Amino acid sequence: MVKVPHVVRIAPSILSADFTRLGEQVREAEAAGADWIHVDVMDGRFVPNITMGPLVVKAVRRVTRLPLDVHLMIVEPERHLQAFADAGADHISVHGEISPNLHRTLQTIGELGCRVGVAINPHTPVSSISEVVHLLDVILVMTVNPGFGGQTFLPETLPKIRQLRTMAENSGRNIDIAVDGGIYAETAPSAVSAGANVLVAGSAIFSEQHSVQEGIDALRRSLGN
Ligand code: DX5
Ligand code: ZN
Repeated sequence: MVKVPHVVRIAPSILSADFTRLGEQVREAEAAGADWIHVDVMDGRFVPNITMGPLVVKAVRRVTRLPLDVHLMIVEPERHLQAFADAGADHISVHGEISPNLHRTLQTIGELGCRVGVAINPHTPVSSISEVVHLLDVILVMTVNPGFGGQTFLPETLPKIRQLRTMAENSGRNIDIAVDGGIYAETAPSAVSAGANVLVAGSAIFSEQHSVQEGIDALRRSLGN
């Protein structure tokens, strides 16, 4: 069993939820002890898939008090920040790979009253965000290539999680290190040992094989809590 160095938060990703009863699924997640609700926004350009927009964020906002953690996998994210903030996003993460003016985009997220996040793909080095760390509240480390739920965790991202944890500690800021993709009871312990304190999980939580409560419990049990 892994020694958990910090409180670990669970952020169910509604990408894997049953959309015919989305409100119910979000309520189940909150009742089961979820900490954040993760919303994956995809545009068919930055990533191949197309998912949801501000309308869905607004609908989810009505059924939960949990922080809504909005992950923008879209080109030109700066054009849509206001709409997501107005819809009720609490955290907004943008991909550094797609934001030529990342510094300004992150400043805007903060000015809109949201926690400021940057998401980094498996190939993206830690150094790419070293000059904006002082603006960050959340680093979303992609542990799969973004675009789809149900992919396999990439273990080569573990050293990067370690480096980001060190960077976060050295910044003196309270930065959450969230891991996103392929997080199950089998993979969560290694991500947490490396320094992640937020687990984003879709397929491990929303599944026809078990209840939302069972999915969240299994993740927590894997960490020994
Ligand atoms: C992938 C998304 C993830 C996705 C994770 O592009 O960013 O948030 O929902 O899904 P699982 O947990 O199924 O890998
Ligand atoms: Zn995501």
